[in-house]
Amino acid sequence: MPARPPGPKPRFLIGNIPLASRDPLALFMRWAREYGDIFYYRAGWIHVYFLNRPDLIDLVLVRNHSNLRKDHVVQNSRWFFGNGLLTSEGEEWKRQRRFAQPAFYRERITSYGNLMTNYAEQMLSSWQDGATVDMHQEMMNLTLRIVVRALFGVEPAKSEEISAALNTMMRNTSGLRLLLPPVARRLPLPGMGDVRRAVKQLNDTVAAIINVRRVGWDQHSEDLLSMLTSARDEDGAHLSASEIRDQVLTFLLAGHETAALAVSWTWYLLSQNREAERKLHQELDNVLGGRAASVEDLRLLVYTHRVLKESMRLYPPAWSLAREVANEFHVEGYRIPAGANVVMSQWILQHDARYFKDPDKFDPERWDTEACHRLPRFAYFPFGGGPRQCIGAGFANMEAVLLLATIASQFEMRLVKDHPIVPVPSFTLRPRYGILMTLNRRKATVGLPHAS
Ligand code: HEM
Repeated sequence: MPARPPGPKPRFLIGNIPLASRDPLALFMRWAREYGDIFYYRAGWIHVYFLNRPDLIDLVLVRNHSNLRKDHVVQNSRWFFGNGLLTSEGEEWKRQRRFAQPAFYRERITSYGNLMTNYAEQMLSSWQDGATVDMHQEMMNLTLRIVVRALFGVEPAKSEEISAALNTMMRNTSGLRLLLPPVARRLPLPGMGDVRRAVKQLNDTVAAIINVRRVGWDQHSEDLLSMLTSARDEDGAHLSASEIRDQVLTFLLAGHETAALAVSWTWYLLSQNREAERKLHQELDNVLGGRAASVEDLRLLVYTHRVLKESMRLYPPAWSLAREVANEFHVEGYRIPAGANVVMSQWILQHDARYFKDPDKFDPERWDTEACHRLPRFAYFPFGGGPRQCIGAGFANMEAVLLLATIASQFEMRLVKDHPIVPVPSFTLRPRYGILMTLNRRKATVGLPHAS
């Protein structure tokens, strides 16, 4: 058995730097097709093992999870994320997760339903029939307001500035820059000054949120920020001010960036697939008859759920996960050494014809087929898996379905002619040029018969 899995030929010293290529997603896909379930490459000094089969991913994320920690990219991001739930490890992570978990219990999440649709309706009331907007930006503003209100109990001041700061961060952390160590923030690289200003802006925002709450703290409030400030360990220890700051920033970013992408990519896909869009409208007209969606409608919005699921298959907001190996272990007879990186990609698995027939086709109804009911775990994993699985999955699913339903029952969106749609793999899968769309108000549906 060879020591290393097959993989692309390395170039002298640098090896292979797929993230620096023109189209990293296409390159990863080509390598997966060419080399199969596991391939190897070296990116500079980093040894990368890419796993492309559900049971291998299960091995890393579930069965052998305690032997793997978050990878360099996540470790490097600590300089702006701090040491919150996304980046912490070991006992510290366990403690943070225990403190935050109650804010994501089913009953708590359900109680956020009204504020989600209220903010959607506020946005809709500002939309003009025939106007052109960047749907990605609109969805970012919307999900930001929702998460700040739901988890921290305040109205976000300056949501446009927060989005702009986040855009700057993401623009400067794609491609090769994902690999830069924290010291790079002090280097005179192009765009780094902007990144430093963006980080400061985000830090100021977090400080302002915590401050507003400190002044008007309601002991009976049950949101995440209250839980974090009042939680105690068995020995009475509580989170320090800097731990709370890191947690607020983590949830601010993780809680709106990905959810906004899930909904944004869906608008794009629906505009390209009129039959699916028609079916969605039919369900919404039957169930909602023109009013905003509510939590009670969720169980009736079956097709809407499938649209979302299919959209997160084709455009997974988190396009890959990576881990660093603590102690050497073996996969398929290959030795994976300590310090190596193991990468698993939703983008690759969820486009794999072994698990999805016509994998590039947007087909929400596939989720009602026998084949999809029998999918192996990790053929589809938009929220990751194992102990580090997304804590906000329930929140995000409910939010996305409520937003899709409320917005699509009033408007249909058309992609502006010739507007380029280019997914870019940075921390998340973002549309490089946004998603420019024209808003068309749907004809009144109020008064249609309600589904029984
Ligand atoms: C469609 C929307 C979302 C997607 C696709 C998504 C995806 C993910 C994925 C793949 C992970 C695992 C990362 C890893 O294993 O390395 C993760 C973790 C996490 N997500 Fe989400 N997420 C979404 C929404 C949310 C929301 C709404 C929140 C908060 C309100 C949130 C907060 C977090 C946090 C704090 C973690 C770290 C959990 C831990 O390590 O214990 N996410 N998310």
